[in-house]
Amino acid sequence: MPSDMKNANFPMDAEGHTYHVGLKRGEVCNRILTVGDPERARRLASLLDQDAPMFERESHRGFLTITGRFLGQPVSIIAIGMGMAMMDFMLREVRAVVDGPLCVIRIGTCGSIATAANVGDIIVPDGSAAVTRRFDAFFDLAAASSSPSAGELSADECYTFSRVFPADAELTAALREQLGQQLSEERVVPGVNVTADTFYAAQGRVDPSFVDRNAKHVEQIHEQYPDAVSLEMENFMLFHLARCATPLAPGVPSIRAAAAMIAVFQRQANTSLPKAELARLEMQAGRAVLDVLAHTLQDEELHPESESVW
Ligand code: URA
Repeated sequence: MPSDMKNANFPMDAEGHTYHVGLKRGEVCNRILTVGDPERARRLASLLDQDAPMFERESHRGFLTITGRFLGQPVSIIAIGMGMAMMDFMLREVRAVVDGPLCVIRIGTCGSIATAANVGDIIVPDGSAAVTRRFDAFFDLAAASSSPSAGELSADECYTFSRVFPADAELTAALREQLGQQLSEERVVPGVNVTADTFYAAQGRVDPSFVDRNAKHVEQIHEQYPDAVSLEMENFMLFHLARCATPLAPGVPSIRAAAAMIAVFQRQANTSLPKAELARLEMQAGRAVLDVLAHTLQDEELHPESESVW
């Protein structure tokens, strides 16, 4: 249980720990590798410099933070679980307790919806759009489940499609180069990622137990985004908040963000990646991301106090 909180607008305890992620100043640093699965975070932490001090905090809301060093540079690995809301918690709460620019790279898994990306390929997107369920379209279920003309909205109006929010171009290029060296260039696939607010309906998975009106959903995604390659659940919020973060000074971004996603399903071919192969790829991707992070952000950009512990 967290201790007593102050400030209902942005709750923190008396020591300055944030409410959900549970971190205070000095426990998390400017370079962040974020993942969904806490076990993946622990496996990736084995790549950190083993002779450097390591900090670990598991919050009461399921966030796991491990801060240490890679190639001598401070890095935090943060597991957030799944979904856009968890990315929002993490980014806002970390932003509140770290001074200076943040560089955030996500390693996740995704489903490929493009023939160009097979299972085991790594997608490094140029940007991400959000596809979300339009809840009101399902209010009158009797109308929604009969003919498309019976409800107020037709089937292709049951989901909203956002604009594409870009990843940081420089980080993305560095990530592709590093991953290309770790795997091979042809297994690193560019394109647009689509973040869905759910794994099932908003990713076009058909579930006869619910009315979802999504039989043509993946087709509609391709119509909206001709370069769409992948579906997952977090990247949009990362790129969106990086764009919305108040600049540190004119022309100095507060958050720079990029992502690498391992394709674990190929939706057209209906294939899935064996677990052992995923474990191998996540370590290769982890090494590449940590390397990019370690070479990003110059000492003079960083606030001495925020990294003093490390
Ligand atoms: N994560 C998702 O959200 N969807 C997939 O198909 C695979 C991983």
